[in-house]
Amino acid sequence: MVSQQAAIGVLDSGVGGISTLRTLTRMLPNENFIFYGDSANAPYGEKDAATVQHLTSAVIEQLRQRDVKAIVIACNTATSAAKSQMMTQYPEMPILGIEPALKMAVDAGKHNILVMGTPLTISLPKYRAQVDRFEDQTMIHSLPCAGLADLVEQGHDGLDQINARLDELLAPYRDQPIDAVVLGCTHYPFIGQLVAQRFAQPVTLFTGYEGLGHNLIKQLDERQLLRQDHNLQQIEFMSSRQTKDELALYQQLFQNGIGI
Ligand code: SIN
Repeated sequence: MVSQQAAIGVLDSGVGGISTLRTLTRMLPNENFIFYGDSANAPYGEKDAATVQHLTSAVIEQLRQRDVKAIVIACNTATSAAKSQMMTQYPEMPILGIEPALKMAVDAGKHNILVMGTPLTISLPKYRAQVDRFEDQTMIHSLPCAGLADLVEQGHDGLDQINARLDELLAPYRDQPIDAVVLGCTHYPFIGQLVAQRFAQPVTLFTGYEGLGHNLIKQLDERQLLRQDHNLQQIEFMSSRQTKDELALYQQLFQNGIGI
């Protein structure tokens, strides 16, 4: 029996989902959260879909042992590769995911949109279907960013390499009339400013986190799983690389971002 008092489980291949967690904890201040980062297996974005499904299921098993009342897959790659399968495998609780916020950018009237994602996210049918839906209304550039999520895993220590990789990836777009960048991997919002400053003109960044938060509230409400008592929010961090340094990095990213 799922309890209202239970925590919400949030998972990612590593630290990226902490950017999502920051929004969710603000939008649901009465709820407790357990975040699980699979840092020992990060990044997911350059693995095949079957491996990502297997890893995602293993993390959900860890969170189920803690009796969570809902699962948020705060990883674009795992959402694209594994969410449908996880919903079939675990029908007893809400499982939500995060997709590149392309619709949000189109709805905001953007005409020249760059979507940054992992190679796996960009190659999977779920993303291709999104592009097919909108490409007659707007110019969409899909940019697979191999290696970028892995560098963000290093936190502030990876900053020089992150800057070098962003130079390489974004130089071809600098002088194009891009008006929006969809950050289609939960690792990228930590370096959103570094992305935006590489364009000659201002660009709007999209993550889709607020939409995810509203959807989570709706799904918990429908199942009468939103907490009704007054609760001092607790946030717990777990990792498949359960070292003191790793958990300190999670805390630091949650509180201050990457420090740029
Ligand atoms: C990765 O693990 O490669 C990135 C996670 C994501 O797509 O959000």
